[in-house]
Amino acid sequence: ESTLAAAAQQSGRYFGTAIAAGKLGDQAYTTIANREFDMITAENEMKIDATEPNRGQFNFSAGDRIYNWAVQNGKRVRGHTLAWHNQQPGWMQSLSGGNLRQAMIDHINGVMGHYRGKIYAWDVVNEAYADGNSGGRRDSNLQRTGNDWIEVAFRTARAADPSAKLCYNDYNIDNWSWAKTQGVYNMVRDFKQRGVPIDCVGLQSHFNSNSPYNSNYRTTIQSFAALGVDVQITELDIQGGSATTYANVVNDCLAVPRCTGVTVWGVRDTDSWLGSGASALLFDGNGNKKAAYNSVLNAL
Ligand code: XIL
Repeated sequence: ESTLAAAAQQSGRYFGTAIAAGKLGDQAYTTIANREFDMITAENEMKIDATEPNRGQFNFSAGDRIYNWAVQNGKRVRGHTLAWHNQQPGWMQSLSGGNLRQAMIDHINGVMGHYRGKIYAWDVVNEAYADGNSGGRRDSNLQRTGNDWIEVAFRTARAADPSAKLCYNDYNIDNWSWAKTQGVYNMVRDFKQRGVPIDCVGLQSHFNSNSPYNSNYRTTIQSFAALGVDVQITELDIQGGSATTYANVVNDCLAVPRCTGVTVWGVRDTDSWLGSGASALLFDGNGNKKAAYNSVLNAL
């Protein structure tokens, strides 16, 4: 096959990217994005601050630009993200307790209602677990509303759009030996046992020297899948752009039937949130295919 999406489709997977609405007028960018990818995530435009800048006043203009571009070009869309401690609008940052809990519920209903029936999978909750060795929850205004906030978010999401897969998404949960991975694994197992609606786990997979790819990645994917959820690689980038590591990631996903697709977090190195110096993506700043691109295409 000659594109990432076409190659991924051969094995029933998708290959996606993050898209920024502000770049949809850049023809070099949209040409690559349209040609190579079949799943689209809004890099920022469906986040809480973008979609509900004032309480109860929703704004879907930038999110809809990305959604419409994707669908008009025959692509599916991942929703990112509904409940998170980051990129909260100021009004939400200042809330607490029952008031914040209600605002979270209203936000999920508002955004998922707008996109009802249109989204492949939503990152319902993002980055709720702590770094380090505790294996426990991250402190945040949402966590301080009570330990049940994550399951409330998932139950709300299921009712708001029963057709979307509901994912928990996080970074540093790719290394099976890390406490954070085990913390999330235990939560997903508990949710499945108690019937809390969850369909997928998103492994962000931002790899760098502090959080390098580890060969136990396949074990992590297999272990989550064995709980009865899909696994998606949702924000892949690899500092330095190692072609070998890119191939390892793709091979590990393909080895697990319930690993349904891979999304890289941007198109060209110049589009990366890490800056072009990180060389973390599959195309260089001129839109040329890098060695990592050929490595991924061969692996798919
Ligand atoms: C990043 C975007 O790429 C940046 O443009 C923005 O300034 C900050 O957020 N984990 C996530 C993503 O879940 O939403 C983040 O995206 C990267 C880390």
